[in-house]
Amino acid sequence: MTESNDSGRPATTPYELFGGSAFFEPLVHAFYERVAHDDVLRPMYPEGDLAPAERRLRMFLEQYWGGPTTYDDERGHPRLRARHMPYRIDGAARDRWLRHMHDAMVEQDMSADNESALWQYLLGAAFAMQNTDDEPTTHGFTVTDVNK
Ligand code: HEM
Repeated sequence: MTESNDSGRPATTPYELFGGSAFFEPLVHAFYERVAHDDVLRPMYPEGDLAPAERRLRMFLEQYWGGPTTYDDERGHPRLRARHMPYRIDGAARDRWLRHMHDAMVEQDMSADNESALWQYLLGAAFAMQNTDDEPTTHGFTVTDVNK
């Protein structure tokens, strides 16, 4: 790897390659600014203040990409799917989450490689977090229509 960080050491973790906390802080902040105005997602967050949730997601992402392990120190093993079980996450909620994360990413200064790596991960993680099927739809038809 040719990239280096402020200390002059070769950058060794994706966390450093992304730009460290100077990257993750504004990313997650931009995401939560959108969650704050989202009628599907906002009601899911039990706390009036979104700042603690913002901090948890930032710590988690930093740790996941090889940064400080503050998340583990404070929260223990992530068990993310289990921690999301109290919330009803259907396809619509999942897509709102991804939409806001996408828009937050677009606002950041990222290389194409970093963007692609982060997006692939978030996409997979968000699909894995879905725990509720979407409401079944009859697409506007009723059973009696079929027999006409
Ligand atoms: C798919 C849509 C998603 C929805 C609707 C959703 C919603 C939520 C909600 C309501 C909370 C509780 C707020 C809190 O106490 O922090 C939460 C926590 C959290 N979420 Fe998500 N989430 C989603 C996907 C994800 C994904 C993809 C990740 C990781 C890449 C993630 C990481 C986290 C983390 C780290 C926490 C804090 C867990 C803890 O330590 O208690 N979430 N999420």
